[in-house]
Amino acid sequence: DKRHFRHFMLKEIHEQPETAELWVARHLPPDLSSDEPVALPLDHSFYADLERIQILACGTSRHAALVGAYLLEQFAGIPTSVFYASEFRYAPPPLAPHTLTIGVTQSGETADTLAALTMDAQRRQAHGEPAFAPRQLGVTNRPESSLTRQVPYILDIGAGIEVGVAATKTFLGQLLAFYGLALAFAARRRQRSLSEIASLKDELRALPDQLRSLVELHDQRCEVLANRFADTQDVIFLGRGINYPIALEGALKLKEISYIHAEGYPAGEMKHGPIALLDARVPVVSIAMPGVVFEKVLSNAQEAKARDAKLIGVAPECPDTALFDALLPVPEVSEWISPLLTLVPIQLLSYHIAAHRGLDVDQPRNLAKSVTVE
Ligand code: M6R
Repeated sequence: DKRHFRHFMLKEIHEQPETAELWVARHLPPDLSSDEPVALPLDHSFYADLERIQILACGTSRHAALVGAYLLEQFAGIPTSVFYASEFRYAPPPLAPHTLTIGVTQSGETADTLAALTMDAQRRQAHGEPAFAPRQLGVTNRPESSLTRQVPYILDIGAGIEVGVAATKTFLGQLLAFYGLALAFAARRRQRSLSEIASLKDELRALPDQLRSLVELHDQRCEVLANRFADTQDVIFLGRGINYPIALEGALKLKEISYIHAEGYPAGEMKHGPIALLDARVPVVSIAMPGVVFEKVLSNAQEAKARDAKLIGVAPECPDTALFDALLPVPEVSEWISPLLTLVPIQLLSYHIAAHRGLDVDQPRNLAKSVTVE
């Protein structure tokens, strides 16, 4: 039931505050003991001796994995690599001991991801790891799926059924699963001080309310902006650091539902080629959140502006962001938490552009909700 929403995708974007609320209630409950950073259904053996992590996923799930890898490396200090499941399957890196493999798939049925996990488990077994419990964790929205029959540990993101082919609330749920893991690992490895851990938890607890106001605000703003950009043929999304994967996700969302060509780039890479595409007909969406790369992203946006590109900023409202032709404002939060907020305007912008073009947003051409063929 779409309730009063025009499409399931819009309804599911509006459900994201609830997804976050449920996550906080489950994983950061008020009675959490002070020596436990986060409540996760993982036992001691899951964490023991861990030296590195590899994550296998496709599409939007891979973008969540990229934010996850940033958190696991930069916040929790564990070397982490992300692979397209379809590539890993035929060209895995050499096996290394004490490695955890994480498979991320909202449906739990994506053939490439399941096959990559099977192959990983078989290789480990051949190298002496126990067959009954390969060191694998699945992150999924479907705990009853094939994935669960395959891997010993599961994190259920609990986002509820997602009908729209374009993943939205399950993307948020997957990101949150990685915040939980990063908190758990950072605390166990004493990688972060108690106050750094406490402040990330406080920000996560504040997330549902922040998402509630952001979704309302951007639903209106993006509808207005979509009228201006609905006839565009190409869009570039730029981001850096922890928000680079959100640029990739913005481009994927836009192409899959609006059929507009879009590219996501790390902003610093633009000058190495893509800048040649820019002129007044190519809008550039720049995700510029305060943090280590803020000034850099702004100067990359300035370079695009100098080529007459129309600049849309996903950024806080402040004098530094006055260079944008249009601003989709996001409150100034810690850089760690920022992808959980910047995802809202990029989803709604894509949604409203596709809706304005009169397209079948929930069932885009050539796509299925779960891709069960290789
Ligand atoms: O079910 P999965 O998370 O494994 O699906 C992976 C991709 O097929 C999926 O994310 C796809 O890219 C979505 N349509 C994105 O909106």
